[in-house]
Amino acid sequence: MKLFDVYPVNDINIVKAKGSYVWDEKGVEYLDMYGGHAVISIGHTHPHWVQKIEEQLEQIAFYSNSIKISIQQRLADKLGEVSGRNNYQLFLCNSGAEANENALKLASFFNGRKKIISFSKAFHGRTSLAVAVTDNPSIVAPVNETENAIFLPFNDEDALRNYFEKEGEKVSAVIIEGIQGVGGINVATDSFLQLIRKLCDEYGSVFIADSVQCGYGRTGKFYSHDFAGVDADIYTMAKGMGNGFPVAGVSIAPHIQPKHFMLGTTFGGNHLACAAALAVLEVIEKENLMNNAEKIGDYLFSEIKKIPELKNLRGKGLMIGFDVPPELKDLKKNLLMKRHIFTGEAKPNVIRLLPSLALTKNNADKFLLALREEVSILSKKYLEAGVS
Ligand SMILES: Cc1ncc(COP(=O)(O)O)c(C=O)c1O
Repeated sequence: MKLFDVYPVNDINIVKAKGSYVWDEKGVEYLDMYGGHAVISIGHTHPHWVQKIEEQLEQIAFYSNSIKISIQQRLADKLGEVSGRNNYQLFLCNSGAEANENALKLASFFNGRKKIISFSKAFHGRTSLAVAVTDNPSIVAPVNETENAIFLPFNDEDALRNYFEKEGEKVSAVIIEGIQGVGGINVATDSFLQLIRKLCDEYGSVFIADSVQCGYGRTGKFYSHDFAGVDADIYTMAKGMGNGFPVAGVSIAPHIQPKHFMLGTTFGGNHLACAAALAVLEVIEKENLMNNAEKIGDYLFSEIKKIPELKNLRGKGLMIGFDVPPELKDLKKNLLMKRHIFTGEAKPNVIRLLPSLALTKNNADKFLLALREEVSILSKKYLEAGVS
């Protein structure tokens, strides 16, 4: 049987990982500035995480949501504490798309409305409603198309105000990433997020903060929307939540009340996923990883800013992006194949850094040295080619 070929892959077979490093089958070491797409939050194969999963595995890995699963409540308590949202309610599921799908359904159950406002370059996942509010027609199947998804320009306060003035009574939810990831590291302004809060309050719409990529402490705050000093009605989270173990969550404000069977999932909240997620939060707290993300993120940011060839540096904490000019188009490839450093990308020309929140200054320096050298080599090559 062949694999269904939907991923363009690098010809590298990673077989081992530790902290911010991974190794291929030949023993070649790679620095991971990509975190397997922002998933590795506390570092690969963190010993506490391994131990907690192993211990849980010896006890019980799975039973359905038809019984009490006490580790779910322990996870909810810890998440409430670390996220500063003790009064919210947690629904557990398995992926970012599923978290957003449930959040959007919940908003519609709550206010009985259908229209969802999303923004240019947004990415919210690939299930039916999540992909309908994702700004990429090439991944929206005809069956997913809906007039209920409204796209407005990102950070455009007038456009948002005007839409609400005309159609506000029909708006079920506004969904927004605090920092767009797949869209290329675009930071929502504080005043834009504050306006969303105000308009949602005024019109009875639900504010959904997609924190699947920008959340879980990556920016130095638990949710990147926290920089604006606003509370969303619903937060969705996934990637960093399990440090690679598939687990996702929807954190729901107290005024949105549950009803039996309103939402559900077979695997969501299983014992093993909860053990992994709880271990992640314990490590984030114990090792002060949100502070580390802020500190090392600021350092990386200020050092990359000194490289004039790299344009439009943006982001917060350990979620950083910059534009790569056409003459340096081989930069990402060279970092990987020559320097053995994984970075992320966003089409057409953005390099994204999404490393573990435990990235050290030494790791950062290793990356910066390689980055400076490759930029300089590629710039020189380009100039020489222009002269000859
Ligand atoms: C902001 C955001 N939301 C949702 C998703 C979908 O998550 P998943 O791939 O786990 O379904 C992603 C994935 O990249 C994302 O970046």
